[in-house]
Amino acid sequence: MQRCDKKVDIGRRQFLRGSAVAAAGAAATAALPAQAQTAAPAQLARVAYPSNRLGNVSELIENDPLYVAYPDDDAPGVLLKLGKAVPGGAGPDSDIVGFTTSCPHQGFPLSYTADSRTFNCPGHYSVFDVEQGGMQVWGHATQNLPQYVLRVDDKGDIYAEGVDELLYGRLSNVL
Ligand code: FES
Repeated sequence: MQRCDKKVDIGRRQFLRGSAVAAAGAAATAALPAQAQTAAPAQLARVAYPSNRLGNVSELIENDPLYVAYPDDDAPGVLLKLGKAVPGGAGPDSDIVGFTTSCPHQGFPLSYTADSRTFNCPGHYSVFDVEQGGMQVWGHATQNLPQYVLRVDDKGDIYAEGVDELLYGRLSNVL
């Protein structure tokens, strides 16, 4: 009976020792990813856009696109004066907007329809509403039309200083 008690006691100690080692191991494993995360270099979530002058308010005719490019010459786009305040609108009347003219679905060039105030894609017929920040209202695209972040200075010069969605075909809007 006494021999049997010793075996139980030794068994219990080994179990407790083993549990302590396992717990320490688990704690160390759980701590590793946190250490690895803090040690990893931070990834930039935002890109630095150029501030490019795209035109002047005096050049704009209401509801008539002025063709531009932003953030570089390989990214065609437009400025539009809509005649009423709209989301993302700049200028004294908050009615000047800018958009890329490459469809975010597969990059087809978009055409502007003044009557409906939409950009329309000949590829798969996506439609984007410029009075609603380029919201897609029809078609295959899976994102809205990238809209420029605009600033108008006191001389009426219009600057683009960012884009709110990813341009088609790019991993970053600024290459
Ligand atoms: Fe425009 Fe497909 S390329 S909807």
